[in-house]
Amino acid sequence: MNAANPIGVFDSGVGGLSVLREIRSALPSEDLLYVADSAHAPYGDKSQQFIEERSIAITEFLISRNAKAIVVACNTATGAAITTLRSRFSMPIIAMEPAVKPAVANTRSGVIGVLATSRTLASDNFVKLFARYGEDAEILGQSCPGLVEQVETGDLSGDKTRLLLERYVLPLLERGADTLVLGCTHYPFLAPLIQQIAGPGVAVIDSAAAVARQLRHRLEAGHLLADKGEAGTECFWTSGAVDKARPLVSQLWRSETEVFALPASAGHKMEQDCLIRTLRELDLPGF
Ligand code: DGL
Repeated sequence: MNAANPIGVFDSGVGGLSVLREIRSALPSEDLLYVADSAHAPYGDKSQQFIEERSIAITEFLISRNAKAIVVACNTATGAAITTLRSRFSMPIIAMEPAVKPAVANTRSGVIGVLATSRTLASDNFVKLFARYGEDAEILGQSCPGLVEQVETGDLSGDKTRLLLERYVLPLLERGADTLVLGCTHYPFLAPLIQQIAGPGVAVIDSAAAVARQLRHRLEAGHLLADKGEAGTECFWTSGAVDKARPLVSQLWRSETEVFALPASAGHKMEQDCLIRTLRELDLPGF
């Protein structure tokens, strides 16, 4: 494995960009590849088998682009597919973990709220976290249907997003939570609104910076840190509509970001169907 190779990062959509920005700030020289599986977001209502298949196909795509390490920048894909990914691929694979440990260390009221998808809250990983820290604090899990979709449309502060957040956050505050964990990588983009709703006395935390530190540590240990003295690059792909993804990625990442269509080789059925349609239209033999 070559230290000059890029790092591959993926999520069900654009939420993993909240992890990517921490990776960029912790590792300024690394080249970064990002796949948003937006055609299939949210993962939260998909089967475990589907999420595993998507995670494998995207990891294979990133490896075909020479990725030296993979970051699963999605709590839901971590819960559903991390064991399979680690058993299939030998490179460093870094995964998400909701920031329950720092939240338990931070709380003064002894009550923390965890905002996540229902799939993440039901995952083995979360059940283990609950068992490990549940004696030190009351841990309230809150699933948040609809929030991923709001971020996927770039609505970070509109009325519908605010109403959904009030519905999920206020009951946690009423039960005494003084620390809120963002257990889905889409939610840090809603952090300003969550903080506004929760008030200044409530801490809102996520694990993106910790994941970036963990990635740095793994690369260092494997002598895989890029040592070129110049700024790294980023390249973005989406399985969704490219013309929708460009303005969204530009909004969440930085202006004028180029986004490419995820190729059919990444197991993307819509792309394959589209290719077959095109070949049919060209009237090629065999289609
Ligand atoms: N960003 C994903 C996560 O961290 C969103 C989940 C989903 O697509 O349902 O869980």
